[in-house]
Amino acid sequence: MKGTSQRPADIAVFLVEHGRLVEDALDRYLPSAGTSPQAVHAAMRHSVFAGGKRLRPILVMAAAEVTGLAPEDVLPSACAVELIHTYSLIHDDLPAMDDSPTRRGRPTCHVAFGEAMAVLAGDALHALAFELLARNAAVEGCSPARVLAAIAELGRSIGTAGMVGGQALDLLAAGAPPDATAVRRIHRLKTGSLIRAALRIGGILGDADPITLGALDRYGEHMGLAFQIVDDILDVVGEPSKLGKRTGSDATVAKATFPAVFGVEQSRRLAETGTRRAIDALAPLGARGDRLRDLASLLLAREH
Ligand code: IPE
Ligand code: IPE
Ligand code: MG
Ligand code: MG
Ligand code: MG
Repeated sequence: MKGTSQRPADIAVFLVEHGRLVEDALDRYLPSAGTSPQAVHAAMRHSVFAGGKRLRPILVMAAAEVTGLAPEDVLPSACAVELIHTYSLIHDDLPAMDDSPTRRGRPTCHVAFGEAMAVLAGDALHALAFELLARNAAVEGCSPARVLAAIAELGRSIGTAGMVGGQALDLLAAGAPPDATAVRRIHRLKTGSLIRAALRIGGILGDADPITLGALDRYGEHMGLAFQIVDDILDVVGEPSKLGKRTGSDATVAKATFPAVFGVEQSRRLAETGTRRAIDALAPLGARGDRLRDLASLLLAREH
């Protein structure tokens, strides 16, 4: 993630350190590529260890930090959210969906391992995510009741009322006339839901009080929408070498995107507005919200 922010050094260090924690933990949690069935394990690792930004696990840890928890306290759940995200990318790239050839700078999972293994790798990451969330109960201080609430949160956020619902609407809307209401709904669901859930899960595990959880929730809602608006803009103006994925695909299949409805310039302003609303939502947190404020500014200016 690139760009400027008021406290660039701090947030840059935070991202590197927490990103490393996630990489190491994911490596421990995923079955080795040498374990049978090798093909599916290799496919899972191919997509997970390909240099994603790890935004969603970082959000889980940043939200937990607001409540006073250490990153290690929520690491299994943070990784669970990243596994859900990676599963969604593998399936999103399939020929039956966006038919994308590259992802995270590599051939997509189905290109490298075939469609059947890519479907199964996604399925297995989905399953492992819920196992990891449950395993967070072994961390001292994370009560089983809070872990159960986090599991329910994740399940709700990725089903038909969340990510999968958004992905279905995204596919159904392709080729239809641009519609502002529809694209907002699609983006909130397909991308916003999981980002919002990442923040809520960090808060839930840290037993956040209602005001804190509400602030995290609203921040996630506005930032999640802004994040997908920027993703749409980068599909128009971004550099494939920086993004690690092909650009221009949304226009080719007439996807419901913000640039298609509003144009690139107006979309940028809408992403800025969403980011400002996200930052405003953190007001009740005072200085405890600084990390998330910096992150929102950085994400708005990102080039990948
Ligand atoms: C890409 O997400 C797909 C969307 C939901 C917008 P990211 O931009 O977070 O992708 P990675 O994880 O860094 O590869
Ligand atoms: C993907 O949105 C959203 C999910 C995977 C849930 P996009 O289709 O816009 O993501 P990219 O551009 O392929 O990364
Ligand atoms: Mg898609
Ligand atoms: Mg796609
Ligand atoms: Mg996109």
